[in-house]
Formats: sequence, C-alpha cells, structure tokens
Amino acid sequence: MTVFHQGSQKTITGHKALREALRDTQTYSSDLQGDADVRDYRQLPLEVDPPRHHLYRSALAPYFVRPTIERHIPSFQLNSKKLIDEYFEGQPKEVVSELALPLVMENLGAIYNRPQDVAEWISWGPDVWTAESEKRSGAVLHRYLDRIYEEALARTSDDVWREIAHLEIEGKQITALEFRGIAGVLLAGGRDTVVKLLSGIMWHFAKFPQDLEYLRKNPTSLSSAIQEFLRFLTPLPQMNRTTVPETGADELPADRFVGMSFISGNFDQTVFENPFVIDLNRPRNPHLSFGFGPHTCLGNHIAEVEAKVFLETLLSSSFAWRIHKEEIRYHAAPYERVPDHFLSLQLVRA
Ligand code: HEM
Repeated sequence: MTVFHQGSQKTITGHKALREALRDTQTYSSDLQGDADVRDYRQLPLEVDPPRHHLYRSALAPYFVRPTIERHIPSFQLNSKKLIDEYFEGQPKEVVSELALPLVMENLGAIYNRPQDVAEWISWGPDVWTAESEKRSGAVLHRYLDRIYEEALARTSDDVWREIAHLEIEGKQITALEFRGIAGVLLAGGRDTVVKLLSGIMWHFAKFPQDLEYLRKNPTSLSSAIQEFLRFLTPLPQMNRTTVPETGADELPADRFVGMSFISGNFDQTVFENPFVIDLNRPRNPHLSFGFGPHTCLGNHIAEVEAKVFLETLLSSSFAWRIHKEEIRYHAAPYERVPDHFLSLQLVRA
C-alpha cells in the first residue's frame, strides 16, 4: 500500500522513538485522509483512531489470522510453481509485472475467493491509482468497488466482499463508503508491498547466489531469512500521522503531519548489527516493516506465508539466475543501498 500524503515537516526516526510514537495515538493520530487527490473517504481500519479503530480491526481480524491464511497454502504452491517456471521460459521478462504481481494477485484471488477478478486486478498494474494513465485517478478502483458492493449486497457471491458488505459495527451494517474504505485497503495493502518483497528476494539471490545455495542446504534458516528480507527491503518505508485529528477540526494546520520512518527503525545500529548487510541468520529481528502498535499490519501473516511458499518453491527448483537488466530507484542516503522501486528487473537463468 502506498498512501500519498502531503510531505511531513517532522519525522520520527529510530527504533525506540518510533515504537513509543506509534503507540501514542493521542499525540500522533491516524485520523487523517491520505490520497486526497483520488479519494474522499477513509481507508479502514488504517485512517481511524482507537477506540473506533478497534471495532473495524476486530471485525476484520478473523480473515487474517494465520490458520485462515494457511488453508490456502496448496493454492499458493500451485501459483508459485507455475509462475516461476513460466518466468524462466523464453525471453527475459520483468520480475515485477510478469512474476511478482501476477503471483500476489493469484494468491489474493484464492484468499478472497475471487479468482474471477484476478485478471482485472493484474491489469491495473502495481499501482491502482495510475491504472488508466500516468495521472493519478480513483476511477478504475471505484468502478470496481461499486460493482462488487452491489453484487455483495444482492448476496449473489460467496466471497470476502459479500461478508464484508454485511459486517456490522456497533450493531449497524457498514455503509457504502465504509465498504470502499475497507475493500480498498484489502486490495491495496497486500499489493505493491508484497510485490516489492518478492522482487527484492529475486534481486538479492541474483546478486548473491551463494545465499540461495545456503538456504537450499539449510532450509531451517527460511523463517529468519524472510524476516531479514522484510527488514532490509522495508516495503512500506514511511506513513504519516497527524498532530491535529482531522475529523471535526475547525482548522487544519499545514504542518500537522508527522512521518513515521519505519525504515529508520529497521536500520537503527543500536538494534541491528551491520544493518546494511542481509544476514539470513540474524538472531534477533524486531523489525518495524509491519509497523508497530494498534495499526500493526493486519496482513502480516498473508505476506509471511506467501513469501515462505515462494521461497520454498525457489529452493526446490533447480533454477539459478543472474541479472539481465536492472533499473532501480534507491532510497535517499543513508539508505542508498536499499531499493525503493524496481523500475526494471529482468533475470535470466545462470
Ligand atoms: C510485505 C508486505 C506488507 C508490508 C511491508 C505491510 C506494511 C504495513 C504497515 C507498515 C502498516 C502500518 C501502517 C501504519 O501504521 O500507518 C500496515 C497496515 C495494514 N496492512 Fe500491511 N503490509 C504488508 C502486507 C499486507 C497485506 C498482504 C495485507 C492484506 C491483504 C495488508 C493489509 C494491511 C491493513 C488492512 C493495514 C491497516 C491495519 C490497521 O490500521 O489496523 N498488508 N501494513
């Protein structure tokens, strides 16, 4: 999920300061609306504070618990195997658009029981706001959300949208706008973030094939490797908070935004030794890639299970690969070794 906010003048950095600030929802509120150029409703439960935040979060939690996600492992395995095999066939291809994005969308189609929508989600590209043209617009997403909402209300479907359209918050069925806010984030949250994670994993193994070989021989290091990829790649590097909750405020000062720099926490030398090295056996890894506090990522198990199946499929294959073409936009210093965006990444068998 990339939520566009006006720039923040203040940024909280460092692992300890971030954890404190992310817990302190009174001072650093999530009562703010991002992407104001393309939507006029809140993403939920992301852009609301406790106690109301808790109501949305607990209503959605059952869809995201680990056992629910693990039921889909057989589908994730089939999707990973098929797409990895196809990726290494024929001409060099883009990792983002021809491997990671289709895989993440196929997996989401299984979780949400909406396989019929997968081709449409893929056609939006990695960022739904620029699905139709380079100019950001909410039209494509909102047409889709309105359509599935109508369907869901008519109870013609048996899937996550139908259940969400009928969710009750404090005894009242959610409104069309609340549905947009929830369904929008369920589609956006697990899209570019997981795509960046999987692309980053492929990129790392192209640069350090010895790490792929190491994991093939030491599969027990898989879980710590996933946490380390999550830390290093920090797919969602920063989110904003506001010092003035926006709901009902008379005045909204332009300097109300405060950035929460998850990436700074992940490279905090007081917590992570040699943070710029990807250490697949890092003994302790309290990374902040999923945030911290009440808004901690709800989809963390989806991301972890998807990444685990993807890695297991790579390890059990005989593929080794090298970079054919790469064009990467890196973060600004001091994170200039950390990819921010894979503009182009093409890999071929080594
Ligand atoms: C590697 C993958 C992912 C990363 C790095 C990531 C990162 C994050 C972060 C940092 C937050 C906290 C935002 C804040 O504090 O303002 C968050 C929240 C959230 N994420 Fe993820 N996310 C990932 C995957 C997913 C997936 C797969 C889904 C679901 C399909 C998802 C759904 C959500 C939702 C619904 C929230 C809002 C939680 C709340 O406000 O209570 N995320 N994510």
